[in-house]
Amino acid sequence: MFESLERLPADPILGLSAACAADPNPDKIDLTVGVYKNESGQTPVFAAVQRAQEALSEREVTKAYLPQVGDAHYIEGIRKLLLGESHPALEAERVTSVQAPGGCGALRVGAEVIKSANPSAKVWLSAPTWPNHIPLIGSVGLEFKEYRYYDPATHAVDFDGMLADLADAAPGDVLLLHGCCHNPCGADLSPEQWQAVTTLTAERGLMPFIDIAYQGMGKSLDEDAFGVRHMTENLPEVLVAASNSKNMGLYRERTGAIVFSGRDRETAEIFSSQATKAARKIYSMPPAHGAILAGMVLSDTALNNSWREELAAMCERLNGLRVMLDEKLSAATGKDFSFIRNESGMFSFLGLTPEQVDRLREEFSVYMVGSSRVNVAGVNNANVDYLAKAVAAVL
Ligand code: LMR
Repeated sequence: MFESLERLPADPILGLSAACAADPNPDKIDLTVGVYKNESGQTPVFAAVQRAQEALSEREVTKAYLPQVGDAHYIEGIRKLLLGESHPALEAERVTSVQAPGGCGALRVGAEVIKSANPSAKVWLSAPTWPNHIPLIGSVGLEFKEYRYYDPATHAVDFDGMLADLADAAPGDVLLLHGCCHNPCGADLSPEQWQAVTTLTAERGLMPFIDIAYQGMGKSLDEDAFGVRHMTENLPEVLVAASNSKNMGLYRERTGAIVFSGRDRETAEIFSSQATKAARKIYSMPPAHGAILAGMVLSDTALNNSWREELAAMCERLNGLRVMLDEKLSAATGKDFSFIRNESGMFSFLGLTPEQVDRLREEFSVYMVGSSRVNVAGVNNANVDYLAKAVAAVL
């Protein structure tokens, strides 16, 4: 049967990481997949997660299914993490959360429920966006429109272009936003811009769908959630796909949630029933291990403090790497890379052509996504000079 199918090309992000892993050059640099790396190039297990894991292995007595909505500590903890302890929507009990296999699972479950509620909704995506948004959301049969977002000439958000494009969105359309640390460009909306987008969303009757996969890796856990919190306070309905892959280092454990704030408790519960039904037909039950660990970290004061400290240090290191990258690239190339400092999270576009990206890979074993998106966390003191020289050579 399957010989009639064609072999597919490698994933544009994961395929490059695999190619880098197979490259024998000892100087190779992997700036591909959005995975945090420390100074030694390792992706560590958070100390709080390690401690939770040890405690869990002592006390776990069953591997029976979790409830369909997920681990109780986790789904309560993720709501509070996103919204803050005393958000008015939480106090009004109009927020529900359903555990999902990572942010991807959350995006897909959210898309399924959107499709049931409004099959003709168009989903507005930022140009550019994370390439996997398209298959994840499009596979339920929703169609897309694009709004201008990143201007390569200024290395910043084209906010006028964004507002102008969204003026064409129809009531009931979905506005997909990156909560923080925009993937791939690293350029985020300011608080004032979030306020303006919230006003536009209300005026045009749009459904905001916020993908937040890097909370705590841009500025801080609270500052990175500004958009989610502001929209949830000021709009009747907000959908959020949250992930703990990056901010708790739970990548392979697939830990995330779809979080919905509705007009009232009843609407929120309706959403929850729809989301669990959607999940049932795709993967049936949520995976337990990562969510139980995240639930422990979110609900235990000592683990929570340890995790917050470690995450804050990671965030500080990422921002320090941005400064170092700017200094080294600007010095080696004579060009201005200061925009890297103004961005947030793991990613930045270096502004190279696809041919220059190919040369970096082929001649220097420096791997980045074809758009010249780099994972800033892949840079360290030991490789930054080689990287800067390589970029200067292809420029
Ligand atoms: C990335 O953009 O590199 C990450 O979100 C990992 C992925 O799944 O693509």
